[in-house]
Amino acid sequence: MHINNILVVGSGAMGSQIGLAASLAGYATTIHDIAAEPLAAAREQIASRLDSSVAKGRLSRPDADAALARLSFTTSLEEGAAGADLVIEAATERLDVKRAIFAALDAAAPPHAILATNSSTLGSSKVAGSTSRPGKVCNMHFFNPALVMKCVEVVRHPGTSQETVDTVMELARRLGKAPVLINHEIPGFVANRLMGAIRDEALRLYAEGIATFEDIDTAAKTALGHPMGPFELMDLVGLDVSYLIRHATFAETGDPADLPHPALTEMYERGDYGRKTGKGWYRYG
Ligand code: CAA
Repeated sequence: MHINNILVVGSGAMGSQIGLAASLAGYATTIHDIAAEPLAAAREQIASRLDSSVAKGRLSRPDADAALARLSFTTSLEEGAAGADLVIEAATERLDVKRAIFAALDAAAPPHAILATNSSTLGSSKVAGSTSRPGKVCNMHFFNPALVMKCVEVVRHPGTSQETVDTVMELARRLGKAPVLINHEIPGFVANRLMGAIRDEALRLYAEGIATFEDIDTAAKTALGHPMGPFELMDLVGLDVSYLIRHATFAETGDPADLPHPALTEMYERGDYGRKTGKGWYRYG
């Protein structure tokens, strides 16, 4: 299936960078948010990211201008969905919100449009039933920062059609990503399960006083070659996001081992979410 127009729902850290990745790859892209303020902030961030790529010599001025010109911003979901061939939903991680969005998208998007969710915790089978096109629904899960990270997990639910899988895998490649196909929905999919195992061990080592969190980060970088240590990564992703993902996983599995580590809960309750609040494991700004 040929994709020309893409709608991204949600203009937060993920949605805005997914939208920019799509416009840089040549797609006419619309970013939707329910409020005008975050949309304006996303547009500003995108423009300054493009400026910085031009300043670094990574992008020509005309290409940056063309990428910005291919982007539209709207507070109307119906307007954004009207001409979309594919939608990537990157709204808040709440099932009731996502179900309402998928029902609205199903009503507003053309019948051929694929509806994908960027959710890292909710398999698309949970939202497919809110549409009349379950075969055209799947997860297309990006990683933070979405502009840079190559991995995209394409997760099929039992009713996702092969054509949908093929189209979304091909789109990810055209965005310059290395898509990974996940054949069965499982909480955390693959990459977050791997990261979660490392993060849990890091928190345990820290909480037991075996090493400081700074030294644990150093070991992850210098011994394992990771670009960031697990504590730096929690600060980047957001401790609130890490905490809520664990709760969502626990709600699904009922396994107490999936509950957030007490050290993470303590940070969450204190409101120290990482880079976004200026303080997490480290201080920023
Ligand atoms: N947004 C967009 N671009 C960014 C960025 C950001 N937040 N941070 C860095 N970059 C870009 C820089 O502009 C730079 O681009 P150029 O090469 O064009 O100049 C490039 O990334 C490299 O940046 P830096 O040289 O400043 O720093 P770095 O080499 O340390 O890279 C990093 C930064 C890409 C974030 C790297 O540290 C990294 O890969 N960290 C690990 C990130 C990771 O594991 N993410 C997964 C999170 S989990 C998740 O997302 C799943 C979920 O479901 C919650």
